[in-house]
Amino acid sequence: MTISLFLLALLVGVQAEDQVPLASAPTHIWETLSARLGGRVFQPTPFAQPCFHNATSVECASVQELYQNEKARTHQAGGYTWGQWEMCQASGEQCLLDFMTPTDPDATASPNTCELGSIPPHFIDVQGPDDVIAAFEFSKTTGIRLVIKNTGHDFKGRSSGQGSLALWTHNLKDISYDAAFVPEGCTAAYPGVTAGAGVQFFEAFQFAEEHNITLVGGSDATVGFTGGFVQGGGHGVLSPVLGLGVDRALQFKVVTPDGAYRTANACQNEDLFFALRGGGGGTFGVVLEATILAGPAAPVQVVVVTWATKSPERTKALWALITENMLGWADAGWGGYSMPELALFVTQRLSKDEAAASMAPLLGFAEQLKADEVEGAMVMVMEFPSFLPFFTSFMTDAGGNAGAGVGYSVSLTSRLVQRASFATPASRSELVDALMAASGAPAPDAPLMIIQITAPTATHADDLAPGRTSVTPAWRDAVYHVTSMGMWNWNATGADMRAVYKRTSALMDHVRAVTPDAAYLNEADVYEPNHEVSFWGDHYPELAGIKMKYDPDRLLDCWQCVGWDSDSERYACYF
Ligand SMILES: Cc1cc2nc3c(=O)[nH]c(=O)nc-3n(C[C@H](O)[C@H](O)[C@H](O)COP(=O)(O)OP(=O)(O)OC[C@H]3O[C@@H](n4cnc5c(N)ncnc54)[C@H](O)[C@@H]3O)c2cc1C
Ligand SMILES: *[C@@H]1O[C@H](CO)[C@@H](O)[C@H](O)[C@H]1NC(C)=O
Ligand SMILES: *[C@@H]1O[C@H](CO)[C@@H](O)[C@H](O)[C@H]1NC(C)=O
Ligand SMILES: *[C@@H]1O[C@H](CO)[C@@H](O)[C@H](O)[C@H]1NC(C)=O
Repeated sequence: MTISLFLLALLVGVQAEDQVPLASAPTHIWETLSARLGGRVFQPTPFAQPCFHNATSVECASVQELYQNEKARTHQAGGYTWGQWEMCQASGEQCLLDFMTPTDPDATASPNTCELGSIPPHFIDVQGPDDVIAAFEFSKTTGIRLVIKNTGHDFKGRSSGQGSLALWTHNLKDISYDAAFVPEGCTAAYPGVTAGAGVQFFEAFQFAEEHNITLVGGSDATVGFTGGFVQGGGHGVLSPVLGLGVDRALQFKVVTPDGAYRTANACQNEDLFFALRGGGGGTFGVVLEATILAGPAAPVQVVVVTWATKSPERTKALWALITENMLGWADAGWGGYSMPELALFVTQRLSKDEAAASMAPLLGFAEQLKADEVEGAMVMVMEFPSFLPFFTSFMTDAGGNAGAGVGYSVSLTSRLVQRASFATPASRSELVDALMAASGAPAPDAPLMIIQITAPTATHADDLAPGRTSVTPAWRDAVYHVTSMGMWNWNATGADMRAVYKRTSALMDHVRAVTPDAAYLNEADVYEPNHEVSFWGDHYPELAGIKMKYDPDRLLDCWQCVGWDSDSERYACYF
């Protein structure tokens, strides 16, 4: 009884405070908070701000040079990967440059001004659990909304928010390796890497190389190792054999919104552990560090086929060939990516000779391209001694996978494709037709489609961390994670943006029509239909219960997250 009265009082308090425009929140509350946190509350600047201040300054020249550079953006509190989550889409307030020509003076010329948009006006440079506990208390008493920002890569705007207070985890950079890590309260030991919430993949992969181990990561060097990636799933080219990021999580240290600093693993706080293994970032607590199962180091076999000129017929032939051979390749442990003019396959499970034999149909396809003198046709069969040299050769500079860098705005949409689609000639041809239709080819402004062959198709349970995961069970039967991405520049109108969202999503309807309702929550449509089912399948009710247990006041809330309040003012910048 007392508890519910207490909660009611809090809710009333929150609502009353919410009426106060946040911009007019008195400065003394910030000073008090900052004093409690040793001065670590600060106001960020938008990435492009120097160019609005003085477009001919040295500072602006540096911003223009680094505008598409992910590393530079992630090192800045106010830097985000995608323009639309820096700006406020609904109001048009923004501080963006022309990403195609960052020196284009139009973007910064009058009447354009530099506005925070969705960038939180206050940040905490998080150093430990006490900072997070203070932030939860602050949010409860003031009604000021919280957001967790790690690298700012999010595709759905979950790490920014107009008028909010951001918990910035970027500087939590500790990383260590224990060949016999025992999760607290458990008995079995595992090789585990413990990393602070600010560690990024370029750092984790370098660390793995130095310690002769393998870590599962994605295609991008600057995504966070233990933030939104692992809490939402986490897939990469090694996932077919080593599992998703969530499959390798051994332990989380997390401050829950009730103000407790908890250890969650297979032996304590098991419900929270389950929720943090796929329930999504920004929802159940602020993770300060996680311990991830390390795999043994092993050579990496790589096969790449590519050509230069767009040709929907050739793309269709490639996708038909991959789709026909895919179940066998998936069982053999191959992962990779295919784009309209590229196929890249990777495995650690085969020797170089075995790899070439296994990929004979694709190599035959490549020989034919060369025989036909297709422009730019190229084939490579390579062995790398370990993962890092492979990653630096193929992925580091990939930026937004397409080599286009970042800093523009995107509408992503995606689908998980199940084994059933690969089973018969009829189902395969239905799938390939759907993929071709969804790619939008041959339109010159077609979205960028990537078939990500990164589902956990060939894992052995003994090689994974113990305990349950909460990603949609559809991942377990998936072979392709298909993504498609439309884009727009700084000067798009609201109507232009809506049209790109709509078009990309409508194209994916071709694949939706032939697959079950399943998508990867970290790389999904902002307007994913039926998102509770597509992201979590039958785990949703259990996750919603865990959310209510640890965060009944919804101090954490984000777009299409478990238990979200879709009517919240928090989403005023979304369409
Ligand atoms: C170019 C690019 C390539 C990508 N490639 C892949 C890929 O190959 N595989 C893949 O699986 N994904 C990939 N992603 C998607 C990526 O996993 C998501 O963008 C993910 O949300 C990034 O997490 P972050 O912590 O780095 O980013 P942020 O945007 O900072 O955070 C994302 C979400 O996690 C929450 N969060 C962050 N840190 C914490 C924390 N410590 N505790 C609690 N919540 C937290 C945030 O509140 C937010 O909700 C890619 C994204 C981009 C932009
Ligand atoms: C802008 O920067 C340049 C280079 O530092 C300087 O010469 C110029 O005076 C500055 N302009 C203004 C308006 O401050
Ligand atoms: C690295 O690890 C592999 C696989 O466990 C092992 O075979 C190899 O001897 C190790 N190399 C070094 C230098 O320790
Ligand atoms: C945006 O600017 C570019 C040139 O910088 C122009 O080609 C385009 O038409 C503009 N788009 C809109 C919607 O104004």
